[in-house]
Amino acid sequence: MHTEFNGRISRRSLLQAGAGLLLTAVLPAPGLAATSGEYRIAAAPARAPLAGDGRPEADVWAYNETIPGSLVRLRQGEAARLVVENRLDQDTTVHWHGIRLPNAMDGVPGLTQPPIRPGESFVYEFTPPDAGTFWYHPHANSLEQLGRGLAGAVIVEEREPVAVDRDVLWLLADWRLTAEGAISTGFGNRMEAAMSGRVGNTVTLNGQVSKEEQVRAGERVRLRLVNGSLARIMALRFEGHRPVIIAVDGQPCDPHEPDSGRILLGPAMRIDVVLDMQGEPGRRYGVIDDFYDGLSYPVTQLVYDERQSVREHPLDARLDLSRNPLPEPDLASAERHELALQGGMMGGGAMAGTGGMMGSGMMHGMMGMDGGAAWTINGQSMTGDGHAGMEPALTFQRGRSVMLAMRNETAWWHPMHFHGHSMRVLSRNGASAPHRQWQDTVLMAPKDVVEVAFVADNPGDWMLHCHVMDHQMAGLMTVLRVS
Ligand code: C2O
Ligand code: CU
Ligand code: CU
Repeated sequence: MHTEFNGRISRRSLLQAGAGLLLTAVLPAPGLAATSGEYRIAAAPARAPLAGDGRPEADVWAYNETIPGSLVRLRQGEAARLVVENRLDQDTTVHWHGIRLPNAMDGVPGLTQPPIRPGESFVYEFTPPDAGTFWYHPHANSLEQLGRGLAGAVIVEEREPVAVDRDVLWLLADWRLTAEGAISTGFGNRMEAAMSGRVGNTVTLNGQVSKEEQVRAGERVRLRLVNGSLARIMALRFEGHRPVIIAVDGQPCDPHEPDSGRILLGPAMRIDVVLDMQGEPGRRYGVIDDFYDGLSYPVTQLVYDERQSVREHPLDARLDLSRNPLPEPDLASAERHELALQGGMMGGGAMAGTGGMMGSGMMHGMMGMDGGAAWTINGQSMTGDGHAGMEPALTFQRGRSVMLAMRNETAWWHPMHFHGHSMRVLSRNGASAPHRQWQDTVLMAPKDVVEVAFVADNPGDWMLHCHVMDHQMAGLMTVLRVS
């Protein structure tokens, strides 16, 4: 028996799991679930074997010298204290993406805190209200800082997790590497910024190109997928398997299989799935990303060892996680606003996942790119990263229910992210959204109109921006105020 359970198990989930669950170790695995609300995180130059397998290491910027950065494990409703030290030669901050925390802890330089200067530290203190899968990254010069490796996952543990044999994190990230294995320079290319953003050529799983991930027949795995890429959208298929989505952006949902078996994961999104390893001992199964037409590639392979299945039948333990304490927006009284996304080049082309490489006529549609702005939200371009003097585009009274209609009038995909809140996705292109998911990052296809709603209950100035980092830097950003 080699089943282990990473994480604490409650009596209720044991009961839910029933007699079929074979647990030999109910204690946390060392190093993984040793929960502590205290972390020290240093951002500094480091080296990392991104390309894997004897290929040269790359110079990176990393949190605690590892790619991805140290896994931060917190407990829902328990205070956390994270001391971030800046050992880079430029300003930085840390943003705790998706966590509903006090504004002063949100990590946006100039807007919510002064930047952390080289050699200085900042203490982030907050109590995460929601359990789930989150992540952290800089919000200063973030195109380059994230692109050079500054990112890590945050797992906020449920009080009652789902019963699984293993709890596994895959932080996926996309890099543009040179033939020598170094990170290509040229961040902030204006042409790219008006198109798909900086999509790279190398995808890593937990910091390295992965050829295989070991699994055991019959085991049930909770797989936490995080897309930490600058710009790459992913659509993951697990050959021979049927993943069940149990949470999106940290927020539990009705367990369901993804549409046509593809898990669509835009930059900054997280999706938790439960995977029953129903393959055959000794076999391998591809995990394929086929988002971009004609550019599919294996992210890794699930490799079954030769041992017998750990159980005869898949578990019939429940998959639903308890919901987080999100306030339900009152749609009848909600105030309504529209955010129109405009700009970029005409015609999404291949990188929009719609086929066809960009033609020469593409240049026509390009907006004036003065000051690096290629995009607008309601006619305004807020460019760069967090900075002083960011005026809110909208102000909501605290406690109001708000409905936002986001219209993507561009030819490109945008994962639109809102800080400090989670948004319920109500509809897409007039059709009501099947699971009315709570998300902090909503992936919009070209021309999509998406309606979201939330209660503006968290006071402060909050960024709303596209998480394709070049798009944000080139104007696809705004600020919403809750007062
Ligand atoms: Cu993950 Cu404003 O960002
Ligand atoms: Cu965020
Ligand atoms: Cu975008």
